[in-house]
Amino acid sequence: MLHASLTIDPSFTVSPVRRRTFGTFVEHLGRCVYTGIHDPGHPTADEDGFRKDVIELVGELGISTVRYPGGNFVSGYRWEDGTGPVEQRPSRLDLAWHSTEPNTVGVDEFMRWCAKAGVEPMMAVNLGTRGVQEALDLLEYCNIEQGTHFSDLRRTNGTKDPHGIRMWCLGNEMDGPWQIGHKTAQEYGRVAAETARAMRMVDPDLELVACGSSSSAMPTFGEWEATVLTETYEFVDYISAHAYYFEEDGDLASFLGSAINMDAFIEDVVATADAVRAVKRSDKRISISFDEWNVWYQNATPSVPPRDSWPVAPVLLEDHYNVADAVVVGNLLISLLRHSDRVRSASLAQLVNVIAPIMTEPGGRIWKQTTYHPFALTSRHAVGQVLRVELSTPSHETKTYGQTPLVDAVATHDPESGAVALFAVNRSLSDPVVVEVDVRALRSPAVVEALTLANPDPYARATVDDDGTLVPQPNDTATCQDGVVRVELPPVSWSMVRLSTRP
Ligand code: AHR
Repeated sequence: MLHASLTIDPSFTVSPVRRRTFGTFVEHLGRCVYTGIHDPGHPTADEDGFRKDVIELVGELGISTVRYPGGNFVSGYRWEDGTGPVEQRPSRLDLAWHSTEPNTVGVDEFMRWCAKAGVEPMMAVNLGTRGVQEALDLLEYCNIEQGTHFSDLRRTNGTKDPHGIRMWCLGNEMDGPWQIGHKTAQEYGRVAAETARAMRMVDPDLELVACGSSSSAMPTFGEWEATVLTETYEFVDYISAHAYYFEEDGDLASFLGSAINMDAFIEDVVATADAVRAVKRSDKRISISFDEWNVWYQNATPSVPPRDSWPVAPVLLEDHYNVADAVVVGNLLISLLRHSDRVRSASLAQLVNVIAPIMTEPGGRIWKQTTYHPFALTSRHAVGQVLRVELSTPSHETKTYGQTPLVDAVATHDPESGAVALFAVNRSLSDPVVVEVDVRALRSPAVVEALTLANPDPYARATVDDDGTLVPQPNDTATCQDGVVRVELPPVSWSMVRLSTRP
């Protein structure tokens, strides 16, 4: 039997758990908005056409922030199109996803949905085809109370109180040649700095996110962050990071190591941001907004409709996740939590139907993908402080990462209630690993609950007909004795062990 060991000590703190780690993303893409969150003909639709069954699962998932309206979509978006009487709104070509955007849902509807779902919005402005002025207009529309053109327009459109949106993304993936209005780092850095500077003239307390790289594999990665932050450092709070992972060529072992790439990505961006800080002799530290992350099989599902059509809400990016995908999602969350000192916001991309934990049938059923569960449980039980765990683990060789640790883990501790949660994965394809956790630093520790998501077939998937079988199951191996918690992690698994302790 393989063994790993780690220590849970409340004094090994990394930082507080950031609620914004548990954000997601709603883009006007495929069926995320239309027939996803919005489906007026659905039996559970409310007076605004929003599916209440989706809102219920958003609550159960424990989502904090929702990034909107894109994504690649935002780089060609005219926000005004989505305001005013719905029947007068124009339909437009959405070049990013080769679709027709009917503009039935716009900023006011989205903000009503956020209020109903109890989530914080994270609004993106278009710095692809547009610039400083249009960003200011949207900010005025959203956040100014009254007495100006756009604030009064919002009131005329039926929303009396300002939306009060605090977090704003300055464009999306502007380093990507696929992006409408793609820019060099210098070009983007200048427009982002000027947009941020002007937006701060309206409200100095906004939290602003500059675009970082759309992947650490971009040829411009590193240079991009350095140049953009050199231009924007004084005016922004975050630099974004995006990463999508998938199993390539049947290499499950490398895929299960994806969090190693995420760890390195985060640490490289932190190093780059701090290098700019040193040059500028600044006291301020830039945080990371990891505002797109997930498993995404980019070549397996259609990402654009047939070239001769411009459909409304086509089926795009509807990945169907298996158990291994859920283990990777759980592991990516472990990586994000471990870096909570600098990753202060993150968004699982996306929320509904499009590379999503929640799936809907138009007018019909709703169901949970395998990836839903590690997200929901981590969001619910990661409370208080994030703790380093000083892990010692066996490893195995993988093609992408060389010697790859079999176990990865992070813990949280809530000093108020004494609640402790350990989140762990076993990346072995064949062997269980017994993890021994030194809990001598905790007062009166006892196991409250241990849950594991695993399956003899790691490629097994939940379906619309059965999303209740491939769910985390009680792990009866978990014990606590003489200051040691022992738990056996099956191969290709994600687990959560909760302990009670005396605060
Ligand atoms: O999330 C899907 C797409 O991935 C987003 O629109 C874009 O920002 C990224 O490339």
